[in-house]
Amino acid sequence: MALSLHHFCEWLASTPVSNTIQNVAWIIPLTQTVHIICIALLLASAAMLDLRLFGIAGRSDSVAGTAKRLLPWIWGTLPILLLTGAILTVAEPSRELENSTFVKKMILILVAIGVTAALQLALKRDPAFWDATPARARWAKVLALASLALFVAIVFAGRLIAYTDHP
Ligand code: HEM
Repeated sequence: MALSLHHFCEWLASTPVSNTIQNVAWIIPLTQTVHIICIALLLASAAMLDLRLFGIAGRSDSVAGTAKRLLPWIWGTLPILLLTGAILTVAEPSRELENSTFVKKMILILVAIGVTAALQLALKRDPAFWDATPARARWAKVLALASLALFVAIVFAGRLIAYTDHP
């Protein structure tokens, strides 16, 4: 399994697409720039939504109103992060796909997507869902804390890839 993944990475790195990304000097810096701008937009949006769920910030707007304003930024930046991340992966397949931190980052992203979707689906059912009972308000805070911790962990993992498991 590890061997076939390694062979796949070697094959991918030798394709014309990967060679072009590796050899045209501006592609990787531009891709990283877009990745980082999207990280800033996603983190800012998630943090504002999470702080509203905590009741710490933005209390002039309802939870549902805040979510309506900010969730499109979270869902909108994720596909761009996926695309730019895929370009970086095609450029250096072994560095990413054979890296345990990269795999952990992908798992964290899936969990963060699940938490964000749970927050949103409840609001779709009932805009006052998270304020309706004290128990739900407590759950909203747990999910907000989880969301914030997950996105910070994803950023940390993104940086950590450069320092772990280089074959
Ligand atoms: C959605 C799928 C994503 C993929 C496939 C992906 C992939 C990648 C790859 C391949 C790198 C380069 C790592 C390296 O070789 O050093 C990277 C860097 C990074 N990623 Fe992502 N990423 C994704 C989403 C995210 C998200 C959602 C965040 C944070 C909210 C994030 C944060 C970072 C950070 C902080 C870096 C380091 C940037 C740098 O130092 O240049 N990524 N990502």
